[in-house]
Amino acid sequence: GAPVEVDIGAIKPGEKLTVEWRGKPVWIVRRTPAQIEALKKNDAQLADPNSERKAYPIPDYAKNEARSIKPEYLVVVGICSHLGCSPSDKFAAGPQPSLPDDWNGGFLCPCHGSTFDMAGRVFKNKPAPDNLEVPPHMYLTDSRLLIG
Ligand code: FES
Repeated sequence: GAPVEVDIGAIKPGEKLTVEWRGKPVWIVRRTPAQIEALKKNDAQLADPNSERKAYPIPDYAKNEARSIKPEYLVVVGICSHLGCSPSDKFAAGPQPSLPDDWNGGFLCPCHGSTFDMAGRVFKNKPAPDNLEVPPHMYLTDSRLLIG
């Protein structure tokens, strides 16, 4: 499929834009400074905090805590690595139904309860075997992203 060019200039901090790439939803989340900071607190609870597993070809530029080129922007395929449901946004930190009391924000898969942090990293002991996939992407300018 063809690469998809996206204008990300209008995404506000804490917001998500969904675009389609190769028939899949790709999420572009502009993280707030607090959401970026909170990623550090999750590492011990995650199945693969540094994205070292090989189920998906994770680009080298996403093998970091924020799983991104720029910490402010998360770019991931919005499909759960378990059986392919699309997780829901649970960006707010703190107690919420089905989430731990120390929840730092992220995504909850409605199908079997897998949870992912704001970098799309899956928590331990969940049915999803892997972090959310990071599609190949690059920045053409500060506000234009090319996916694929
Ligand atoms: Fe997401 Fe099963 S499809 S937890």
